[in-house]
Amino acid sequence: MTDFRKLHLKDYIKMHPEKLKEDAEGLIERAEILRWGNVNNKVLLDVGAGPLAIIAARDFNCTVTNIDVSEDALVDAKRDAEKEGLAEQIVFEHEDATSLSYPNGSFDVVICYGVLHHIEPEGRRKCLHELHRVAKDKVIIVEFTPEGFAEFHAFSSYKHVDLDWLELELNSLGEVETYSGTLMNVYTLSF
Ligand SMILES: C[S@@+](CC[C@H](N)C(=O)[O-])C[C@H]1O[C@@H](n2cnc3c(N)ncnc32)[C@H](O)[C@@H]1O
Repeated sequence: MTDFRKLHLKDYIKMHPEKLKEDAEGLIERAEILRWGNVNNKVLLDVGAGPLAIIAARDFNCTVTNIDVSEDALVDAKRDAEKEGLAEQIVFEHEDATSLSYPNGSFDVVICYGVLHHIEPEGRRKCLHELHRVAKDKVIIVEFTPEGFAEFHAFSSYKHVDLDWLELELNSLGEVETYSGTLMNVYTLSF
């Protein structure tokens, strides 16, 4: 049976033609996403503590706020940033991406690399709307394809993200550009 919902969606999703570099495990390199997102010198919100915030501050001269619900993850990320001499450029904050304390439009770009599947399915819509609310220009979501999820989380308690649902939800918020990788896809929402 034809799924008219998907046909309609294809009409207004732009596909990204350029190939983004992947690491040995098949994950899209964080620097590639930042380059594609044209984040140089921007004020960035990075959801989920990890190496992306350091790469954005060090190599793209971003002013970064890196948030996480895990205090332990924030402590580790802060220690890594201090080792790199980037303590001044990255602020680490304990925040829940489904309910952010920041005013509307606080950040030029919001990026969420590999975090959505950490959030329970019933909180994901709220999360996307919060990321959209605090972003001025764009939101970049990087999430596992079914193959990627099977590769990395087959035995975890996380629930995979329904990527058709994700595209539809993002399309209700603005213009979406999609990049399909081997194990991860990238969705850029601009407005
Ligand atoms: C895969 S890691 C993030 C990786 C990181 N973005 C990077 O550069 O590699 C996922 C993180 O998301 C965090 N997380 C889960 N739910 C969250 C939420 N509701 N709000 C903020 N962070 C959350 C987890 O605690 C975990 O540290």
